Parts: sequence; C-alpha cells; structure tokens
Amino acid sequence: MRITQLGPAAYPEGYRTDMPAFGDTLSDREIAAILAYIKSQWPPDIRARQSRQNAVR
Ligand code: HEM
Repeated sequence: MRITQLGPAAYPEGYRTDMPAFGDTLSDREIAAILAYIKSQWPPDIRARQSRQNAVR
C-alpha cells in the first residue's frame, strides 16, 4: 500500500524507480483491489512465500 501510495517517496533516498505515486489518484480501496487481483494471479508457492514474509514475527 505504501509503495503504491507514495511511489518514489516510499523508497530510500537516492533510489531510482519508475514506480509512480497513486495516492492522489486511487483510493485505498482501489489500490487494495488491484493488489488483490495481482496476487490472485500468483501460483500457490509464490502466495505461500509472500505469506511467510508478511507473517507477524
Ligand atoms: C504506469 C503504471 C506503473 C508503473 C510504470 C509502475 C512501475 C513500477 C516499477 C518500475 C516498480 C519496481 C520498483 C523498483 O524497485 O524500482 C514497481 C513496483 C511496485 N508497484 Fe508499480 N507501476 C505502476 C503501477 C502500479 C499500480 C497501479 C500499483 C498498485 C495498485 C503498483 C504497485 C506496485 C508495488 C506494490 C510495487 C512494489 C513491488 C515489490 O517491491 O515487490 N504499481 N512499479
């Protein structure tokens, strides 16, 4: 959500990226919906890996 809302500002200073900021053009719900769609296209092993990375430790 942070990367999508802030774009380059979400990355460390000096990091160059083409990812634009969408915080002013997409609502939180729209961003969440797009990310959910992208995730729905992942194969199960990738979903499992991301789920492990996101787990609260
Ligand atoms: C013209 C449209 C877009 C362009 C050109 C673009 C480009 C990029 C690029 C180049 C990156 C890699 C960042 C880096 O390491 O340099 C990135 C990452 C990312 N983008 Fe976009 N993006 C676009 C639209 C979107 C939209 C609409 C969303 C979500 C609603 C989105 C979500 C993300 C996220 C979450 C990442 C981080 C992925 C990760 O680090 O695993 N992007 N994007």
